[in-house]
Amino acid sequence: MSSKNQLISWFLKNRKALPWRPEDPYAFRNDYFVWISEIMLQQTQVAAVCEHFSRWILRFPKISDLAKASEKDVLSHWQGLGYYSRAKNILRTAQILVRDYNGFLPASRKELEALPGIGKYTAGAILSLARHEKEAILDGNLIRIFSRLEKIPFLPDQKSSSDFYWNIAREWSSSKKAFLINEALMELGRNCCKVKNPTCNVCPLKANCKAFISKQISLFPPKKKKSFEEWIGLVLVIESENGKIFFTDNDQSHFLKKQKTLPHFEFPYSESKNFPAKAEEWISFNLVKEFHFCGRFKHSITRYKIDCNVLHVLTTQKISSKNPNWISKKNLLKETANSFSLKALKVASL
Ligand code: ADE
Repeated sequence: MSSKNQLISWFLKNRKALPWRPEDPYAFRNDYFVWISEIMLQQTQVAAVCEHFSRWILRFPKISDLAKASEKDVLSHWQGLGYYSRAKNILRTAQILVRDYNGFLPASRKELEALPGIGKYTAGAILSLARHEKEAILDGNLIRIFSRLEKIPFLPDQKSSSDFYWNIAREWSSSKKAFLINEALMELGRNCCKVKNPTCNVCPLKANCKAFISKQISLFPPKKKKSFEEWIGLVLVIESENGKIFFTDNDQSHFLKKQKTLPHFEFPYSESKNFPAKAEEWISFNLVKEFHFCGRFKHSITRYKIDCNVLHVLTTQKISSKNPNWISKKNLLKETANSFSLKALKVASL
């Protein structure tokens, strides 16, 4: 049996039931569901996506329902998945689809890739998984499998190396069964050809896997050079006299740019006794009734590894109007759309 057929028969036996997968593996799929689930699955665990996907579809059953929703509503349905720009792009794309395409995803790869948040991978997933076209996909799972199968000693981190991997992906998907092959490869990468402790003895491709045959699985794919940055800082939980917490639109930090977050800035711990001068950008010291350091938390976001102290500041202000930058304590969990701020609130016992 060819590798492709071996892979397909493994997938048909081992295919997990997931909320966005129809029971029948040969069924055409709703391309809106494929689009949303594939965006959710980028950099997020399947278990978290399962919960969010079902809730999302109940609230926004069609692209036209999504296009009418407010950004706040959309973000609240994304809460917990991280990388909130993905949700903002989904909303922008839904609005474009209603305006320009009658509320449907367009036909060609070129038109799909022109939409906010839809790249080569997502376009390939919509075309192959939903519409059964012979289109390629390439994600981290496929990169790992291809690197091991062929002992490819580099990652797709440049135009030429990326083209190399995409060409292999195109060979795999040049079949009427591309919809099965693409998803089977992702499933194989997720559950068998894993980053750590791959289960090679049950792999349907082991007979043709050069890294397995030469007992060099751990060398492929080659390790990425570390490129994260450490960020040591302070986050402010500023509370008004009447129990509202201040959120900034965050136009100056490195991460969570232009999102509503608790104010934060770089700050070495050794300075953490006095009221920090930089905090006066958000709250003037003569309005401060009392302040105290509550503790610290660690967080990772994009390329930043954050180590952050939390300062709780009680002010003499009364915020009575419906100012969108001040959220009342009882609504905090509902209205805070990023886990950086949620962790800080927890440290401040809010
Ligand atoms: N990872 C991302 N998309 C996937 C899919 N459709 N099936 C399995 N794993 C995935």
